[in-house]
Amino acid sequence: MSKPRGLSRRQLIAGVAPVVAAAPFAGIALAGRRELEATHMGTEHPAMGHAAMIGEAAPAPGGPNDLDAVTYPPAALPHQPGRVREYTLLAQDTEIEVAKGVFYPAWTYNGTAPGPVIRATEDDILRVEFRNGGGHPHTIHFHGIHPANMDGVFEIVEPGGSFTYEFPARPYGMHLYHCHATPLKKHIHKGLYGAFIIDPPEPRPPAQELVMVMNAFDTDGDGENNFYAVNGPAFYYARYPIKVKRSQTVRIYLANLTEFDQINSFHLHGDFFRYYPTGTSDTFEYTDTVMLCQGQRGIIEIDFANTGNFMFHAHQSEFAELGWMGFFEVSD
Ligand code: CU
Ligand code: CU
Repeated sequence: MSKPRGLSRRQLIAGVAPVVAAAPFAGIALAGRRELEATHMGTEHPAMGHAAMIGEAAPAPGGPNDLDAVTYPPAALPHQPGRVREYTLLAQDTEIEVAKGVFYPAWTYNGTAPGPVIRATEDDILRVEFRNGGGHPHTIHFHGIHPANMDGVFEIVEPGGSFTYEFPARPYGMHLYHCHATPLKKHIHKGLYGAFIIDPPEPRPPAQELVMVMNAFDTDGDGENNFYAVNGPAFYYARYPIKVKRSQTVRIYLANLTEFDQINSFHLHGDFFRYYPTGTSDTFEYTDTVMLCQGQRGIIEIDFANTGNFMFHAHQSEFAELGWMGFFEVSD
C-alpha cells in the first residue's frame, strides 16, 4: 500500500489530538515512520505536549473497562503442588481497533492482543487446551521449564485442530507465551502473545497488581510499526488512567512482545520503582527506567510517595507519541 508523502508529524498529531468528532483517523493508519522522521525536527505543536493527552483529549478506542481482563490478572493462589490449573485458548482471526478509528486484521488468542493472562503457582500442573479457529497453523510456545513435546515448536496445530499443553509450572517469575509457527515474526506481530505469571511458593506481599504487555502494530504492512501501546490500543491508559492507591504497592508484570523494533522500555514519572528481572529472585534495581528486548520481562513494584497523575511511557519518545503512554491516577 502506498502512503501519502509529506504527511507531517504535525498533521499526524493535529489529527490525533482533538476530540475525535467526525474527523476520520484513516490518515494515521497510513502514517509511516519515514514520514514522521522526515518531518521530525522542529515541528512543535501545542497538542504534542503530554499534559494535553489525558482523559478525553487522548484519542483511544474503546470504553473504560474494555481492557480489564488483560490489565488485572486473576488472583494468585496458595502453593499446592499438583493442583491442576486449566485454561482454554482459541486462536482466531480478529479485526481489532488498535488506535482510534484504525482497524487491524489481527490473529489473536481469545479475541484480544495480548491474549488472556495465564497464571499458575509454582508446582501447579498447567493444562492449556488450545484450539485453532484461525486460518493459519498456530501453536502456543510458553517460556519456562517443560518437556520438549510441550514447547509449541514441533506440534503445529492446523486450522480446525487442537492440542493440549500440560506441564508443571516452573520456575516462578514473570513469563510470556506466544505462537511459534513460522514465519515467526509474522505470527508474533499479528498479535499471538500474552503474559504468563508463575507465583512463588512463598506468596508475594499484597499489592495492586497489573499486567502490561508492550506491543505494536504495523498497520500498513511495510515491516515497521505504526502504533505502540501496552495491552493493545494506542493511548488507552491516557484516555483511561489506571486508578491506584498511594497506600499499597503497585506491582506490574511487564513483558515486551514488540516486533520489528529491537528494544522497548518502561519509564515512570515522579517516582522510582524496584525492578526484578524475570521476577525470579529478590534481587532488584531501583530505577525509573528499564529497557527490554523482545521476550524480556520482569516485575515492577512502585510505592507512590505522592498523589496525583503520573505518566508512564516508553522512553523511546517516538513510541510514546505513537500511543505507548498512559497515566496512573494516584489517590489516598
Ligand atoms: Cu501462529
Ligand atoms: Cu519467546
